[in-house]
Amino acid sequence: MREVTPVDGLNDRHGWWPRRRVLQAGGLALVGMAVGSPWYGAAQDVLSPTPQCDNGKGPATPRQTEGPFYTPNTPKRTSLIEASTQGTLIMVTGSVLNTQCEPLAGALLDFWQADANGVYDNQGYTLRGHQFADAMGQYRLETVMPGLYPGRTRHIHVKVQAPHGPALTTQLYFPHESENKRDAIYDERLLVTMPPPSAATPVARFDFVLGV
Ligand SMILES: [Fe+2]
Repeated sequence: MREVTPVDGLNDRHGWWPRRRVLQAGGLALVGMAVGSPWYGAAQDVLSPTPQCDNGKGPATPRQTEGPFYTPNTPKRTSLIEASTQGTLIMVTGSVLNTQCEPLAGALLDFWQADANGVYDNQGYTLRGHQFADAMGQYRLETVMPGLYPGRTRHIHVKVQAPHGPALTTQLYFPHESENKRDAIYDERLLVTMPPPSAATPVARFDFVLGV
């Protein structure tokens, strides 16, 4: 059985997600895919750990290792779901802010992750894609929960870059994961917030704070 995702209905940031969806092999529309270098041309990975945003809108955003599986020139898309995607569908959403907690409109976010079985696509662009924050600095990513692979807890990689600014490379983690405490790279400051397990809306939230 396959459930179709309302990939065109992502404009309601709080109420669009009707219920938990589990994807199996089948067809889902691929949205806005265009391959090309997304970066503004600034040096990558030179940003120091982000200072604390002090008005309570978000925690500091530490940088983390890129790991061995980054691929540049990803497709531009807000949904990483493709016809063959399997796993538990989730939304990751939030804002990109500066250290004054002001939104960074047009910030670039480039996501990549393992599939539900803990495998990266290192030949193509499966579960890889970049997007730009909107005028309010907000982003939204439709994807599946990443699987586990040896030595790592569940995580999503991301590069975040304000227009013409340096890039922050980091990773996002999920609460209530037993492997978190066994992962030497894991950082609780990078935990997304999730609804309770019983909630029907698997929307993970995280605000990035960049030192610009
Ligand atoms: Fe990874």
